[in-house]
Parts: sequence; C-alpha cells; structure tokens
Amino acid sequence: MSVVEEYQPVFTGKTLDRLREIFTRYPTKAAAMLPALWLVQEARGWVSDRSMVEVGELLGVTPAHVRGVVTFYTMFHQHPVGRNFVQVCTTSPCNLCGAEDVVQAFLEHTGARELGATSPDGAWTVTEVECLGACGFATPVLVNADFVESVTPERVPEIVRKYK
Ligand code: FES
Repeated sequence: MSVVEEYQPVFTGKTLDRLREIFTRYPTKAAAMLPALWLVQEARGWVSDRSMVEVGELLGVTPAHVRGVVTFYTMFHQHPVGRNFVQVCTTSPCNLCGAEDVVQAFLEHTGARELGATSPDGAWTVTEVECLGACGFATPVLVNADFVESVTPERVPEIVRKYK
C-alpha cells in the first residue's frame, strides 16, 4: 500500500497574515509574486510544485505562471537544499582568480562533496553561480543571504565554522 503524503498549506496562521499585509502594498495580488514565493521558501526551505499551485490560487494566476517565475530566478530552490546554501561565482574573471579551488574547498569542508548535493547532516548545499557583480573581489561567495568577498580556499574552513 502506498502512502501519499498530504500537502500542508504554507499560507495559514501568521504566514497568511503576512501575505495579506503584503497584498496591501501592491496594486494587484499577482504583483506580490516574489514576496509570496519568499514566504514559501522561508517556511519550507524550497518551492515545491504543490506550493506553486497554492501560490497561484492565492494570487489568481496559473501554476504555469508561478513556475515561470520560480524557474527564472536562481534564488528560488526547486528541490530541498541544506540549511546553509553556498553560491560561489565561477564566471571567467573569478575562475581566473581561483574560484574552482574555492568551490572544491567548500565541497570538502562542508561534506557536501558534489555540486548541488546536500551534506549528509543536511546542513550544506554548494552551487556555482554566474557573476555576482563583485568581479573586483574574487572570489565572491553568498552564504545564505550573506555576501562574502575575496574568499580563498584558506578562508573556507573559518567561514564554514561560522555557520555551524
Ligand atoms: S565574474 Fe565573479 S563576480 Fe563577476
């Protein structure tokens, strides 16, 4: 017998109250798409297909419309990720300054081991991203919402420790 997990809506209680407050600041509900998706990601850590349907229902748009937004922006996770999400710029200028070594250091020191994979303790996911707009400070890294400049492989253990 298969067990189908029932979907628990994101927008109940305080989260629904927050969304309603956000609606008051936008001309239409559909215009509040990005903050609505942030609320989902804050609550669940990622945006599932079912959450996209829920957001569509609340904002009066189709699930396909919501999916278009979620897949356009790399900051929205379409699958579960670690509690700490590391994004390393590996575009050419940073690559020339050793970004690949920074990536390898993060994979090693977080235990994530592979790009996009989550460490066994659920704490870390490491990914590469395109230019973060700080080419003069190679290698720039985003750890969750924190921007860290001039990261070298030697600095990685200290950065990882800070988020443990
Ligand atoms: S190329 Fe890395 S920040 Fe621009």
